[in-house]
Amino acid sequence: MTDTLLSSRLRAETRDWHDRMETLMQRADVFASRLNYGRFTTAQYLFQQDVEAFFDDPRLQQAVPDLQVRGRLEAARQDLLDLEQPVPPQLPQTRHVTMPSALGWLYVSEGSTLGAAFLFNEAKEKLGLSADFGARNLAAYPEGRARVWRRFIASLDEQPAGDHGSIVQGARSAYARFEALLLASTSQPT
Ligand code: HEM
Repeated sequence: MTDTLLSSRLRAETRDWHDRMETLMQRADVFASRLNYGRFTTAQYLFQQDVEAFFDDPRLQQAVPDLQVRGRLEAARQDLLDLEQPVPPQLPQTRHVTMPSALGWLYVSEGSTLGAAFLFNEAKEKLGLSADFGARNLAAYPEGRARVWRRFIASLDEQPAGDHGSIVQGARSAYARFEALLLASTSQPT
């Protein structure tokens, strides 16, 4: 049997983008200072704004029944306040994105909660931040990262095959958006 699970396709067909993210995060030297980390958090806030713009779409709610436990926009907003960084205005750039590609965007956002376990430790150790101050956006969901991720994978793997191509394209667009946001916020003069 060929491997046609959407979750496997997404992992395989966006691996190049994930590698780029890791390189970009290293270059941005996110944990060198609270200022650098604040810039990363601004990118995270803007990205979460783009993703949560879909949350009232009934088709996304149907595809991901536990949608309400997901998303880190409010956490990122509070982190920006903790870090005394300006909170950007509410201007999501994803009004043109609809289901099924919206699910690819959500995949990138949800998957990033896994690597965030490592980032959270760095934020704690190098910058003295925590789940209650400054690093809420990297903290695990109350139910735990793995459990919430496994449920998301189960939702992905129930999507009809005809939608898979659009979902993968959505994920690639989401990575491109995160890259642009990270480059824009981390290339500010110090
Ligand atoms: C230095 C930065 C990063 C590191 C070290 C990192 C690390 C990781 C690790 C270790 C996993 C796999 C966890 C597991 O399988 O249990 C993972 C998964 C993932 N990460 Fe990252 N990550 C980073 C940044 C990002 C960023 C910036 C994004 C998106 C904006 C992202 C999106 C994802 C996605 C979508 C997955 C799920 C892949 C799959 O389908 O299995 N990561 N990351």
